[in-house]
Amino acid sequence: MEKKDPFVYAHEREKDIVWMSQNTNQLETSSKIQEAMLKALKEGKHNLYPHRDGVLGFKDVLLDDLGLKDNYDALITNGAIEATYTLTRAMLSEGDNVVASDPSFMPIHHQVDLCDAETKEIDVYKDPYKLTVEEVNEAVDRNTEMILLIDPLNPLGTSYTEKEVKGISEIAEDNDILLVHDITYRDFAYEHTLASEFVPERTIFVYSFSKNVGFAGMRLGALIMPEEYSELLHKYRTNVLSANVIAQVGGKKALETKEEWLPNMLDQSRKNQKIIKEAVDQIPDIHLPVYPSNTNMFVIDIEKTGLDPQKVQKKLLYEHGVFVRGGNYLSNTAGNKFIRVSFTVPQEGAEKFAEKLPVVLEDLR
Ligand SMILES: Cc1ncc(COP(=O)(O)O)c(C=O)c1O
Repeated sequence: MEKKDPFVYAHEREKDIVWMSQNTNQLETSSKIQEAMLKALKEGKHNLYPHRDGVLGFKDVLLDDLGLKDNYDALITNGAIEATYTLTRAMLSEGDNVVASDPSFMPIHHQVDLCDAETKEIDVYKDPYKLTVEEVNEAVDRNTEMILLIDPLNPLGTSYTEKEVKGISEIAEDNDILLVHDITYRDFAYEHTLASEFVPERTIFVYSFSKNVGFAGMRLGALIMPEEYSELLHKYRTNVLSANVIAQVGGKKALETKEEWLPNMLDQSRKNQKIIKEAVDQIPDIHLPVYPSNTNMFVIDIEKTGLDPQKVQKKLLYEHGVFVRGGNYLSNTAGNKFIRVSFTVPQEGAEKFAEKLPVVLEDLR
């Protein structure tokens, strides 16, 4: 089988690949967003640095999107990943710990490592496939600086009820620690509660434009924090010259026009996940731990087949042009049990995956 790095292989054939490996979004949004960015480009906005606090008015629109006005500030970043880097650098030092889940979006855990701090990973690869209030409470100790609440959760697709968010918020309050609410997938959720409803003074949001509006390549995100953290977090920002100005113009337009594009995009995403679910239901020994997903991805458990998720990933990519992710990227403990599939791709892509999955599993068996 092909030996090349799967990402190099896939990028070399970009247009021919069904890209279901990174929770990116290739579904249609609004032409107004592209038009705004093209206009900005034609006007030469990219010749100047943006204001250090971002394109004028962008921050307000962003805070508005979450219904946050007073007492909150935003730091515009090159993607959510830069937001978490800034946050971990500013807040963590040797001996500290962060309570989080496994599976999880592991790059944040690696950022914690860089601070010589520890991530206390709670195994959530079991019902209800998310952190529980009891387990978080048990895990928190005197060295805990923050709880990382990825909600909805990459990769499982679970989200937290109002009661659960409240319960976890209370733990943050009682232990005088930060609640980092990573809401990268919020717009995909059937229902969603912001932790700021309960502990506004200790909630820090991680925001991304990569998934909802499909800006993964534009690199745009934000850290949204109570004003009292603003000075410290700005001090640790990796880029005092702000983020890509054209991306910011597009991000602002995306939020201003959200009502026009979000519902249709969500309909297609949910239709695609149903197509895949129906295919999975037909295949012996595999299942979806969480359905429906509150994100643009879910996990397909293949443990009972005895197959290696990495081999499934490779065969799907190199023989069929469908790119999914083996679980080892997302879990230190359960990574050999599942593949993760994102479905914000054109419907033909979801259909192709649904057709090829049984073929690949059968071949490998
Ligand atoms: C939970 C979570 N947080 C942050 C990120 C990073 O997003 P961005 O592309 O905005 O850097 C991702 C990307 O997949 C993610 O899943």
